Amino acid sequence: MPTSPNHGEFIRISSRDKTLLREVSIIEREAFGMQGLTFEQLVLFSHSGKIFGLEESEKLTAEAIVFQKFNKNSIFLFSFAVIEGKRRCGRGTHLMRSLCDYLSSRSFKRLELTVDPSNVPALDFYISHLRFQKKRFIPDHLGEGTHRILLEKFL
Ligand SMILES: CC(C)(COP(=O)(O)OP(=O)(O)OC[C@H]1O[C@@H](n2cnc3c(N)ncnc32)[C@H](O)[C@@H]1OP(=O)(O)O)[C@@H](O)C(=O)NCCC(=O)NCCS
Repeated sequence: MPTSPNHGEFIRISSRDKTLLREVSIIEREAFGMQGLTFEQLVLFSHSGKIFGLEESEKLTAEAIVFQKFNKNSIFLFSFAVIEGKRRCGRGTHLMRSLCDYLSSRSFKRLELTVDPSNVPALDFYISHLRFQKKRFIPDHLGEGTHRILLEKFL
């Protein structure tokens, strides 16, 4: 799917951007329910990782949180979501492509993430659409009965 500036401006959100961090927490709660990150957790994460988003008319419409893996040229995508009501219009694609360009221009070689095997929209998005490779199935990764699939993409 083609993306355009109409899908929003790619921004990095720092620990000082409290208004934007609150908007990230709203997208998190809406997308992941009680497992979504709180504002306080996001403030802490913004120091140890990096938080990105898409901004349109001063409103955040999508967010991505990444961490660097120790001793590797590899990045772990901790969270990724588009605000409800704005999905399926290319914003996820625009945010992921912008993120991959950002990481690759900083010499990172690989992006990894884990996904819930029952999250069909996310699997279609990452595997069929963005060509992430399935690395392995991790049974009970987040506790008994909570499995994950590890995906990777070379940048
Ligand atoms: C997964 C997610 C980020 C995709 O963002 P998006 O902005 O809707 O994605 P795009 O519009 O760029 O979609 C690109 C392609 O991905 C696939 N895709 C996206 N959503 C899909 C869905 N609900 N069902 C099937 N395929 C889907 C399609 O191939 C789509 O292309 P198409 O619309 O031309 O068919 C979004 O659905 C979301 O925020 N989900 C909730 C949070 C979540 O599950 N995050 C992933 C956690 S690992």
